[in-house]
Amino acid sequence: MKSVIKTTNQFLNKFGYKLTQVKDNDSDIYRREFLKNSRSVNQAHNQQTVEKVKYLKEKYQEPVFGKVYVWDLMKDLAHCIDPTDPSLYCVSQLVHTMQVVGAMEEDGVEDEDMIISALIHDLGKLLLLTDEAPENIVCMNTVVTSYEEGIGLDNCIFQWNHDEFVYDRFKDYVPKNIAWIIRYHSIMIKPNLVLMNEQDKIYTEKYLKSFRKYDMDSKSIYNLPKNKLSDYRELIEKSFPEPIIF
Ligand SMILES: [Fe+2]
Ligand SMILES: [Fe+2]
Repeated sequence: MKSVIKTTNQFLNKFGYKLTQVKDNDSDIYRREFLKNSRSVNQAHNQQTVEKVKYLKEKYQEPVFGKVYVWDLMKDLAHCIDPTDPSLYCVSQLVHTMQVVGAMEEDGVEDEDMIISALIHDLGKLLLLTDEAPENIVCMNTVVTSYEEGIGLDNCIFQWNHDEFVYDRFKDYVPKNIAWIIRYHSIMIKPNLVLMNEQDKIYTEKYLKSFRKYDMDSKSIYNLPKNKLSDYRELIEKSFPEPIIF
């Protein structure tokens, strides 16, 4: 088991990522359990194969929640907790979403596409409310096989998680740039730069790098949002007036 952790960490370290270590002397039993579970979910996620990704993609061609208003999906984020995220622990994904949008607003981000992307980006985590294994819903993604340089991200098979699910559900209702942001919002940027085509590079510079900053840096169990979901009801209902198959 130790060598699996070491290998996973060696791989992630190369790109500036690492699994959070569990300290044996951590006196908080719940935190220790959380981190231990987080580590095993990450390890399982990193074992996804091309076949597994194809199976999941096929599986989720079928609706899970039926025909639903996006506004109602947003409210359900309050019931969702990412069991792998030690920046949030048991803070809900609704609070996380408000933290991200709040951070953008504090910075004066006016691009509505960024705000809409932030609002919907983690809706795929609603799968956590189903029987799906968490390793197929959360964690960061990279490609599961090798490709030639510059092939373009859309031609690559990435690990499957909430990104692909939410992309699949929203791609027909949002412009191309928003679809791209939500699809790739949790890829490891550095190791996948080489696979990007010109369009991917433009979107990465224009959107993903700053989106990632807000998505990651606003996370804190102490970051009490000043905004609330109802502040965005008009924008959400204007952007998605009809229910969608989710
Ligand atoms: Fe996410
Ligand atoms: Fe997020």
